[in-house]
Amino acid sequence: MSLFISFEGPDGGGKSTQAHLLVDHLKGRGLNVLLTREPGGTPIGDQIRRTLMDLGNTGMDPRTEILLFSASRAQIVHQVIRPHLESGGVVVCDRFYDSTLAYQGYGHGLDLDALRTITKFATGGLRPDLTLLLDLPAEAGLERRRSGGQWNRLDAYDLAFHQRVRQGYFELAKTEPERWVRVDATQPVDEVQAAVRQAVNARLA
Ligand code: TYD
Repeated sequence: MSLFISFEGPDGGGKSTQAHLLVDHLKGRGLNVLLTREPGGTPIGDQIRRTLMDLGNTGMDPRTEILLFSASRAQIVHQVIRPHLESGGVVVCDRFYDSTLAYQGYGHGLDLDALRTITKFATGGLRPDLTLLLDLPAEAGLERRRSGGQWNRLDAYDLAFHQRVRQGYFELAKTEPERWVRVDATQPVDEVQAAVRQAVNARLA
């Protein structure tokens, strides 16, 4: 069966680890699973990702950021995600357009309606069936990233920015409660994964 799952949340919540563990689990159940990440996930998207993450690109305007994220997204949707879903597979995506609404919309204060329009153009209207919000306080997430040596240009925005992002996720989840499941990402990895699997298995049942 086809199912489109996205992972969202503030930086440092362990999305990549959890997405990998989920994919192993689903493959073990015999499902045809594809793991992708945003920005990136295609050769063109990976080039866009390098531009976005480059610590030298401090002058990047938030509007430029949106269009780059959206360009990477358009590429992955049409090259990878849609074909896989159409062939009956499961797609697990480490971030999708909700990141744009949370980071560029709630974080940078850009117009949400404009962002939704750009997003719809980029994705052709594709929406995840299930979105897992790996939630943790902004301070905790940033500390994990710093100590993990994964610091990038986007992490360097101030704490208030990351707090607005987190609140933005809560707002987004409120408007579509049937799509979102919040998981407490301050728990140990295996407990987070158990909650993730429970939510996914409920959709597959
Ligand atoms: P990444 O290293 O993938 O972070 P993480 O492991 O937290 O997912 O970096 C992605 C960064 O890009 C992260 O700070 C969120 C940000 N982002 C946006 O601001 N807008 C977007 O549309 C997307 C997809 C990501």
